[in-house]
Amino acid sequence: MPPNEVFAPAKINLTLHVTGQREDGYHLLDSYVMFADIGDRVFVEAADEMSLTVTGPRAAGVPDDARNLCWKAAEFYGARAAITLEKHLPAAAGIGGGSSDAAAVLQGLEQVYGRPAPLDTLPLGADVPVCMVGHAAHMAGIGERVLPLFTEVPMPCLLVNPGVEVSTPEVFGRLARKDNPPMEPWPEGGGNAAALDWLARQRNDLQAPALAAQPVIAEVLEVLDALPSARLARMSGSGATCFALFDTFDEAEAGARAVASAHPDWWVEPCRLR
Ligand code: C5P
Repeated sequence: MPPNEVFAPAKINLTLHVTGQREDGYHLLDSYVMFADIGDRVFVEAADEMSLTVTGPRAAGVPDDARNLCWKAAEFYGARAAITLEKHLPAAAGIGGGSSDAAAVLQGLEQVYGRPAPLDTLPLGADVPVCMVGHAAHMAGIGERVLPLFTEVPMPCLLVNPGVEVSTPEVFGRLARKDNPPMEPWPEGGGNAAALDWLARQRNDLQAPALAAQPVIAEVLEVLDALPSARLARMSGSGATCFALFDTFDEAEAGARAVASAHPDWWVEPCRLR
């Protein structure tokens, strides 16, 4: 039987409002999340022993043992498996690579063993519950409250990472205010045009502290803002990956060519968000 293959899409926080902090230190979030048609691939096979093989263009430096969230996901599910992780997304990049991989492993194990994963996947990480949904959603609480949202058409997008890793706890630690205003209500039914107007009025509260930790992020945002057809440029998660949104996929591809030729060492990927 061929191993079960599950796609692990990049997760993009189009907004990320930090609205409070709990006594245990975790932050209360209000975030609009979408998923790209680019990502990692996970292959899961039933096995007597746990094993993890990491392949793909971004495999360098990714642990292939119990430190990897894929391994932890199999332990959390309570089964042994032979897992192959084909890594395409940069690590520690604000686009949920590890969380999306973990969600994909759980889904692969569900297919292999025919029993559902635990409903509460928060113990694996704050981004895992939304990654189990895998398409547009409103995320709240510390990540455990996920409300799937209907999107009419995929949103053309360009992802750019300047090649610096960002520590999420460090960025949260540098955040000046923890009690920022929540998002305005999501504009139901207006399509991408209404979504873009709404998005422009929302924020990523982690952007300023991430810029302080890694000033190159400001350069990425400047480059994206300067693209003539970019409608909005912002950072995802705790960085350093930033995104720009476009009206058409052709514009996103043209933007990708311009950024990649000016910055050949940056990770540059046009994609569609759902
Ligand atoms: O849950 P995850 O491993 O993705 O979180 C990484 C770190 O980010 C946490 O250890 C915590 O410092 C910070 N975090 C937070 N509030 C959240 C999610 C993450 O402070 N809601």
